[in-house]
Amino acid sequence: GKSVVTLDGLSTNQILDLLHKAEYIDSHRKEIAHTCDGRVLATLFYEPSTRTRLSFETAMLRLGGKVIGFAGAQLASVTKGESIADTLKTVSNYVDVVAIRHPKEGAALVASRAASVPVINAGDGGHMHPTQTLADLATLQSRFGRITDLTVGLCGDLTFGRTVHSLIETLCRFGNVRFVLISPDELKTPQYVIDRINATDSCSYVEVRDLASVIGDLDVLYMTRVQKERFFNEDDYLRLRDTYILDEEKLQLAKPSMAVLHPLPRVNEIAVDVDDDPRAAYFEQVKNGMLVRMALESTVVGDELPGYEPLNPKEV
Ligand code: CP
Repeated sequence: GKSVVTLDGLSTNQILDLLHKAEYIDSHRKEIAHTCDGRVLATLFYEPSTRTRLSFETAMLRLGGKVIGFAGAQLASVTKGESIADTLKTVSNYVDVVAIRHPKEGAALVASRAASVPVINAGDGGHMHPTQTLADLATLQSRFGRITDLTVGLCGDLTFGRTVHSLIETLCRFGNVRFVLISPDELKTPQYVIDRINATDSCSYVEVRDLASVIGDLDVLYMTRVQKERFFNEDDYLRLRDTYILDEEKLQLAKPSMAVLHPLPRVNEIAVDVDDDPRAAYFEQVKNGMLVRMALESTVVGDELPGYEPLNPKEV
């Protein structure tokens, strides 16, 4: 199996097949419950997480495998100065697949080069979060029946929000997306992500500050949290954190079919009264996150899901 540092390492057919697998898993939970019998996953989380770690772990348990790892590096030997490479060379002896989250951009790539088993990036600093993107794509697929030909607004911290960078990168590969990048000037999308949109003929973007003036155009509104942990200066964070608050009043300006996504955790950027609106899709994303991780884990360790028919490349 191979490592997944960004989704760029997978073909578009492989990505669509993972989404197809996730749907199959959801409707065949008993049949697939022993797919990964005897396998072990390590979750190496050097940064806080609720959804990603617990869903990686649940995914392996529901496939019949087992899990080891650490949540928060304070109990691991990194506190004694051990490098990521040495940690991965060690853990590769114990397990079949590793999921790693780390505050530094590039940590998952370093880990994948040192490991002798597949490494899955569970978020590296402000860079990428590929399995969140799979969850996002699964949610778009189930809401719209497609992941192309959409107007996608991304709102909030577009500088440090790794889920935003991963999602834009991947949507560009499928094409036909109009991006509306909504952020304060201080939190605009990094140039390497803009370059990616510019390099895609069928995609376009605009950058705006005001959410209310564009919300009516959107098929998807992807809200993000201002990433406190990546700010150097507390005052900047406090000034910017509540720039965007989506509430029912603002949602009245949106299309009835719009989907509101958010990778979670949220702080203030989506009022809880939005949760009951049919456009709120963020807890569907959570469910899809577990299903796509089941699909990915079974795939990278090379275990076939019983009864699963791969997506015919001609269909994609
Ligand atoms: N969406 C996401 O990555 O959530 P956690 O930080 O809780 O894992």
